[in-house]
Amino acid sequence: MKWAVLVGGTGSNLQAILQAGIPIDVVLSHKANVRALDVAREFGVPALVLLPKDFASRAEYDVALCRELDNFGVGAVAMAGFLRWLQPTTIRHFEGRIINVHPSLLPSFPGLNAIAQAYQHPVKITGVTVHFVDDGQDTGPIIAQSAVPIWPSDTLDDLTGRIHRTEHRLYPKVIQAMQEDRVALENNRVVWKGGGDQWASGH
Ligand code: GRF
Repeated sequence: MKWAVLVGGTGSNLQAILQAGIPIDVVLSHKANVRALDVAREFGVPALVLLPKDFASRAEYDVALCRELDNFGVGAVAMAGFLRWLQPTTIRHFEGRIINVHPSLLPSFPGLNAIAQAYQHPVKITGVTVHFVDDGQDTGPIIAQSAVPIWPSDTLDDLTGRIHRTEHRLYPKVIQAMQEDRVALENNRVVWKGGGDQWASGH
């Protein structure tokens, strides 16, 4: 199955996915001139830019997005820094084959600035979640989570670095598992095949 990664930022997760040797067929960004596009080019992956300002509505944007992905024969989508709300029709189009990485232990701290939210709360343990995308904000069925401690001496930068390093370990593993058909969404539940759910800690 062909994979797309949707980006819009620094592309550190895209880089981790590609460095893990995971084949990605196309990268699509909602912003121009972002580092994620450079990462795609460095690894020889076709990179597309769809700017929201070029479309009259969110619906038209998503029609174009699906058309581009369909043209590449994309069957599954990993979101990594793509800060756009996808239309329900887009999510249906890729249902059970569209995933996202979020820098907290969902359902705690959904939305933007999740790392800072956890740091400021403050909680003792936060982490990383990989989940299927549904119509809500970071509400889809959880595939894997990895816990990250917040130490008393941590600055926000310390925590941010630890979270990102954890994302970079966890996300490629989950994508690889999906590529190998070891995990799937069945009746809106995540099913790990081959027994057990060793992904509670992500290790
Ligand atoms: C990551 O922290 C991810 O959890 C969130 O957006 C950020 C993307 O970072 N969804 P990058 O572009 O992969 O460096």
